[in-house]
Amino acid sequence: ETVYLKDYAPVPVTVTHVDLHVRLDPRATEVSARLTCKRQGPGEMVLNGEQLEMVALRLDGKDLPADRYTLTDKTLTLHDAPDAFLLETVARISPETNKALEGLYMSNGMYCTQCEAEGFRRITWMLDRPDVMATYDVEIEADLPVLLSNGDEVAPGKWHDPWPKPTYLFALVAGNLVAASDRFTTMEGREVALNVWVRPGDEGRTGYALDALKRSMAWDEQVYGRAYDLSVFNIVAVDDFNMGAMENKGLNVFNSKYVLASPETATDTDYALIEGIVAHEYFHNWTGNRITCRDWFQLCLKEGLTVFRDQQFSADMRSAAVQRIGDVLQLRARQFREDAGPLAHPVRPESFVEINNFYTATVYEKGAEVIGMLRRLVGPDGYQAGCDLYFERHDGQACTIEDWLKCFEDATGRDLSQFALWYSQAGTPRVTVEESWEDGVWRATLRQVVPDTPGQTDKIPMTIPVAWGLLDADGAELRPTEVFELSEAEGVIEVETASRPVLSVLRGFSAPVILEHDQSDADRLVLLAHDTDPFNRWEAGRALAKARLVAMVAEGTAPDAPWLEAIAKLARDETADPAFRALALALPSEDDLAQTLHVGGIVPDPDAIHAAREAAGLAIAQALASDLGELRRAMRVTGPYDANAEDAGKRALDAVLLRLATRLDGGDAARAAYGAADNMTDRMAAFTCLLEAGDPSVAKAFEEDWKHDRLVMDKWFAAQVMHSAPDRAVGIATGLTRRDDFDAANPNRFRSVIGALTAGNPAGFHQKDGSGYRFLADWLLKMDAMNPQMAARMSTAFDTWRRYDADRQDLIRAQLDRIAGESISRDLAEMVGRMRGA
Ligand code: ARG
Ligand code: ZN
Repeated sequence: ETVYLKDYAPVPVTVTHVDLHVRLDPRATEVSARLTCKRQGPGEMVLNGEQLEMVALRLDGKDLPADRYTLTDKTLTLHDAPDAFLLETVARISPETNKALEGLYMSNGMYCTQCEAEGFRRITWMLDRPDVMATYDVEIEADLPVLLSNGDEVAPGKWHDPWPKPTYLFALVAGNLVAASDRFTTMEGREVALNVWVRPGDEGRTGYALDALKRSMAWDEQVYGRAYDLSVFNIVAVDDFNMGAMENKGLNVFNSKYVLASPETATDTDYALIEGIVAHEYFHNWTGNRITCRDWFQLCLKEGLTVFRDQQFSADMRSAAVQRIGDVLQLRARQFREDAGPLAHPVRPESFVEINNFYTATVYEKGAEVIGMLRRLVGPDGYQAGCDLYFERHDGQACTIEDWLKCFEDATGRDLSQFALWYSQAGTPRVTVEESWEDGVWRATLRQVVPDTPGQTDKIPMTIPVAWGLLDADGAELRPTEVFELSEAEGVIEVETASRPVLSVLRGFSAPVILEHDQSDADRLVLLAHDTDPFNRWEAGRALAKARLVAMVAEGTAPDAPWLEAIAKLARDETADPAFRALALALPSEDDLAQTLHVGGIVPDPDAIHAAREAAGLAIAQALASDLGELRRAMRVTGPYDANAEDAGKRALDAVLLRLATRLDGGDAARAAYGAADNMTDRMAAFTCLLEAGDPSVAKAFEEDWKHDRLVMDKWFAAQVMHSAPDRAVGIATGLTRRDDFDAANPNRFRSVIGALTAGNPAGFHQKDGSGYRFLADWLLKMDAMNPQMAARMSTAFDTWRRYDADRQDLIRAQLDRIAGESISRDLAEMVGRMRGA
């Protein structure tokens, strides 16, 4: 059941056009398909089809005799198919009972689909693979006001998509929906109707998504020269959705969490995510849809590139420095963690059992970093030339990473064969930096090691672009940024200089590596105060904080005065962007510290890490005590709520300061802030502070105010789990799962309790009595019976198990063994197998 990249072969018989007639019914939907088939080589045609009841099967208008085909629960094989023919099937399916949320399903009375990666086979028999691209005609029959599919609407309920596409981009939506609409005229003069479809009552929360869509369309024209290609672009908000959103051609389907926003219900973070995800899905129209993937091993071809594009977009819309810091925080929290454990895999995996298990931080986020490095290596002009060639050469095709890289080789003349190792070698490279300064020559020796990962050892050095610059001891710039290409195991940078310089290395986080650079506190303080590279200013502060926290955990030290002074100074630095200051004041996460300790050969104790972070937070609060009131007043935003980055930055810093104040006043300031809040950002900040202060009294009022609103209640659920004391977290989470409004079948709600514990309260999850592990395993088994994809994804919470002490390892291992011993889905079995090292 393992699929290998090396086994790729094109289909012997392809499908060039799909004609669908769908008669919707909750338990007995009938899907009639007419596939225009064409032979392109020898062999039998094997169509995919799962959980389908066959009603009819005809070839060129005649019922197919039993000896001409073989039907199993997964495939339909045609024997002796002619060179060109029309295959007709009628399938019966049951969307209402589909809780896997893959294929055609129902969410709150509306029909919708999710076909990526292999959901189309649950709708009808078809070659369900990305290298089969067909045009589509779709007719939907249902007694519902809104009937949508891909392409342009040719008559009510009838859709034609002229752009050949793979099955995974198919979509169908039907329901009682209303649209918020707008228009966009493309640079080619095409008039495009834009609609955001929501349930009646939600129209007032669509404005930001619509605006983000228009800005995305304009940006892709300006920056990549890419224009939209249909007369309509539809977005639909769906409450039950496994992932963030889906780029179906002309009909993007979104988790409602990433569409609906109003100041009262959404936080600044929600707004930023909506902007980024709307852009991401829109950008897929060119990077994913017009040019798609040959096979699922090439997933990063569309995802890494499209994440890179959405990050560029957000950087342009907001503060580039703040965006970069946020992206790197995410990368380290999710991808470095993945790359360091049993689930490590290359950006382009070479085998899989269930492809849904490879929609990972490595494919997406590390995939985006690889594009960023490529751009740094060939320069902005080379990057643009390579992209232009890619769009010109491969429009309408299903491509590979080799096709992509070849465009950059042809456009720039650069040999990218060594660079290509980033796609095949897993594991986060470690780069050590050693400095010397002697006889007026400063020297930095850089060494790289790519660590072993499951199934991969003895790796080859990679091309690592290391951006660097030099400052003098007073913080003045000695050498502006340049890029050193570390392409061998060792490389040396040399500069003649009369005084000892301060090195700022890996500026802008120019490569996804772990840097080991024994820099003095004095140098780090210079960088924190003066580096011209804002990312490295933040990074210097982070390194200082991390060193303190590690020492607090490992040696029981207390935070030192010089560090606290530096932090206090930064907090008061009116010349620095509030959003930046908020990031610089935040301490490294508990999981980050656990990983750092583990790498340093210390077994992390989750309770000790939690306690150290609390102690550091209190020390910072005390150091800033006399300024907190004034600093908070300076962050006050006047006028009505606006989600713009500047106001959001002020609110973010205010929230950090409020959290510090709460450590000193037991919640007085937070209670006042909760009462005064006129938007969800401020309200959540105050609510979570109060939960941390052990005062859940506002939880009741919050619930009364918002019990009618699923998305807001998701926040309410999650906050109580994330911000409770570690020894109470499992109990609170368990209590929440017993409520009537805890609907595990809804992925957002499931994540807001189970995910909030595993990812949001590490010390709670890792309680040494094993209660967190048992709680997760119980829920994985329950979830797996409904929604295997969701269960498999959530199971990754166990992937760090080898970091911990023998007792915790035994407890986790026992839960993994227990899960493996049950009859579980292929999805969950693959994940558990990899984590157990089977
Ligand atoms: N292509 C979508 C996106 O990145 C993700 C959909 C993945 N869904 C899944 N079930 N694997 O925007
Ligand atoms: Zn994507």
